[in-house]
Amino acid sequence: MNTAPLQGIKVVDFTNVQSGPSCTQMLAWLGAEVIKIERPGTGDATRNELQFDPELPSYYFLQLNSDKKSLALDAATPDGKEILTKLVKEADIFVENLHPGAMDKLGFGWDSVHKLNPRCIYGTIKGFPQSSRYKDLKAYEPIAQVTAAAASTTGWYSGPDNVPTQSGAALGDSNTGMHMLIGLLAALMQRERTGEGSFVYQSMHNACLNLCRIKTRDQLTLDKIGYLTQYPQYPKEKFPDYVPRSGNTEGSGVLGWTYKCKGWETDANAFCYIIFQRGEKDFELACKAFGFEDWLTNPDFNTADARDKNKEALIKRVQDFVIDKDKHEIVKLLAPYGVPCAPVLSTKEVMSDPDLYDGNTLVKINQGGKIGEFVTVGCPFTISNYQPTYGPCPELGGNTDEVLAGLGYSQADIDKFKSNGTTAPMPKK
Ligand SMILES: CC(C)(COP(=O)(O)OP(=O)(O)OC[C@H]1O[C@@H](n2cnc3c(N)ncnc32)[C@H](O)[C@@H]1OP(=O)(O)O)[C@@H](O)C(=O)NCCC(=O)NCCS
Repeated sequence: MNTAPLQGIKVVDFTNVQSGPSCTQMLAWLGAEVIKIERPGTGDATRNELQFDPELPSYYFLQLNSDKKSLALDAATPDGKEILTKLVKEADIFVENLHPGAMDKLGFGWDSVHKLNPRCIYGTIKGFPQSSRYKDLKAYEPIAQVTAAAASTTGWYSGPDNVPTQSGAALGDSNTGMHMLIGLLAALMQRERTGEGSFVYQSMHNACLNLCRIKTRDQLTLDKIGYLTQYPQYPKEKFPDYVPRSGNTEGSGVLGWTYKCKGWETDANAFCYIIFQRGEKDFELACKAFGFEDWLTNPDFNTADARDKNKEALIKRVQDFVIDKDKHEIVKLLAPYGVPCAPVLSTKEVMSDPDLYDGNTLVKINQGGKIGEFVTVGCPFTISNYQPTYGPCPELGGNTDEVLAGLGYSQADIDKFKSNGTTAPMPKK
């Protein structure tokens, strides 16, 4: 059995860049029909951003828009509005991430769409929650990270590198898309019972803040006791009244650190991560793995609280043990004793790992033409009775005729829309 969870669901996708398209990418992979509205002639901004060939769409675009249909449409023209109205009347979900106010200006904000089709769920992505004084700001990834306490708590905690730091993971962009996906799927379930579509508002700020719970937890603790035992600053330094950056410590109560491995002088990723769990049994096993049995009777190390206080000495000894060993060798040595550890991997290493080409984790899409095959990250979860297919991305306006014909337009109408600027740029005079 291979039943697509969203089979029969029609999505009008008025999103571009990353946050919105990452959401509608998932909707498409779950089986919805996703019609991506793109401005004639230009399309999604990422088509022409960070290109590897000026003639071809970028990997940025390709990695976020597979299995969608592209309708080139100027929604500001009277014909464009008529076409979009027809689409909305058939849609289950309308999702957009234009700058604040833009969708209302085009006449397709929540109120208008809800009037046109009360069953249609409306998803909107903006930078900030509606209550925020920043709600009218345009937003990109770092704007979310710097305002949701992600950047202020990430990075090194001393010296000249003690600056707010961006995460390599897209906490503001793709993470927002995934949060929006949750909201839309919940709204679909809700509609099953109420028969009515609802308005799902997802800000990049909220999505990013939702992943910073461990930092809000730390703020609460700091407010109460004035220090954080898991941070590298403890017990030596006085804490500020806000959560400081914590370098590479583990976010929870266990004691984790990144260690230099053999070759670190020339290989930027010759590092591994090792964690000491709090439990006695786990500590005993870790001591065996390292050959540090003397710690079992040493009061400076034989309790979790003592280890927190003496983490500097602990890290130094572990570092001396690790420094002449390959990062993969470390895992082989420690894993049999149940010590949580892993090599630090580069993008190159991840993307060339054959284990990850399991049909979902990393997938190869055949785009055809000059692009041929490219790799992307697949649907991040598996469903026992459904396997997504991973098809190519549409050309700009590649499905325009098909979508218009599906709405009942004749070939003469379709030709007219092409020549009057509705679905193709106006010919230059
Ligand atoms: C990403 C962002 C900063 C880009 O802003 P931008 O450069 O102004 O681009 P937008 O796509 O929002 O809109 C540009 C214009 O194109 C218009 N437009 C876009 N698609 C159109 C279409 N198919 N037909 C007609 N007009 C269209 C918009 O209505 C807008 O017009 P206006 O400026 O006259 O109001 C902004 O969209 C934003 O803040 N979005 C919300 C947060 C977000 O998702 N950020 C992206 C994270 S990856």
